[in-house]
Amino acid sequence: MNIAEAKYKVEERGFLDIDIDVHLDLFSEIERLKKEKNAIVLAHYYQEPDIQDVADFLGDSLGLAQKAQSTDADMIVFAGVHFMAETAKILNPTKKVVLPDLKAGCSLADSAPADQFRAFKERHPEHLVISYINCTADIKALSDIICTSSNAEAILNSLPADQKIIFAPDRNLGGFLNKKTGRNMLLWNGACMVHEIFSMEKITKLKIRHPNAKVIAHPECEEAVLRLAEFIGSTTQLLKYAVTDSCNEFIVATETGILHQMQKDAPYKTFIPAPPNNSCACNDCPYMKLNSLEKLYLCMEYETPEILMNEDLRLAAKKPIDRMLQISRDAGLIG
Ligand code: 13P
Ligand code: SF4
Repeated sequence: MNIAEAKYKVEERGFLDIDIDVHLDLFSEIERLKKEKNAIVLAHYYQEPDIQDVADFLGDSLGLAQKAQSTDADMIVFAGVHFMAETAKILNPTKKVVLPDLKAGCSLADSAPADQFRAFKERHPEHLVISYINCTADIKALSDIICTSSNAEAILNSLPADQKIIFAPDRNLGGFLNKKTGRNMLLWNGACMVHEIFSMEKITKLKIRHPNAKVIAHPECEEAVLRLAEFIGSTTQLLKYAVTDSCNEFIVATETGILHQMQKDAPYKTFIPAPPNNSCACNDCPYMKLNSLEKLYLCMEYETPEILMNEDLRLAAKKPIDRMLQISRDAGLIG
């Protein structure tokens, strides 16, 4: 199959559904393709362990955006979800950006449809719009500043205390920031299905069985869970804290993918996934986990599915991301 035929085939399912020779060593094949195509593999911490292990760069949303912007590779292979690959294209439009599965979306991004958000914004014309990076390019284009969980506080601190703000789309992160900064931002009513699944009661019971364990949580979690946490931060911040803190046992309230890196960086420590409020034992993001090593290999080989974007939308979405990156640089959060 050639690249044009592969593109046509992808339209049916959102990814290339082709049988791969079972004897193929995908790890070495991916390394070969990286060299042949001058490609870089960027992966989020919520990807499956094999993908994390083949990545050239592993990071949270802020780190990934920065890396996507600065890379001189010809092809960015984005092992993450759609809004992340879209952000890479917005920041580095001359590169080919591919995503192993186009259907790797995000429940949080889906919770803010652009037409409804535009109407909401029009009802509050005096408000500045800060949007969490977990949103579509259309929502970014309607925003004044983008933020991630790594830099949201620094972004708020760069604004006058009396500035009226709409925060979208995550009500949990917005509520956490309101509490932390004393602001009263107007919150869009969106949430992440993975971070809302944790059970406060079950974490409390688990803590009784592990009295020395520290609860650490991502700010996308509900307030009741955040109240139990001794440390709250983005995925990179959680990883750094878990590895450097003197405690040897942690209950981790975020997607389970991060445990792979925690365990690699601190093999002598114990990391327990926070229990969800249903009988299923997994806190996996169903979107992040749509990507697989096989799909990653195929999208590199056939350079599809590719992220393409209308140039007017790209430029409008880039403005608030550039503002985020500038404030993050000024605050010393990124180089
Ligand atoms: P960060 O990696 O920026 O902490 O975001 C978490 C997340 O939910 C990504 O989808
Ligand atoms: Fe979206 Fe939540 Fe999955 Fe992150 S973990 S991609 S916010 S659904």
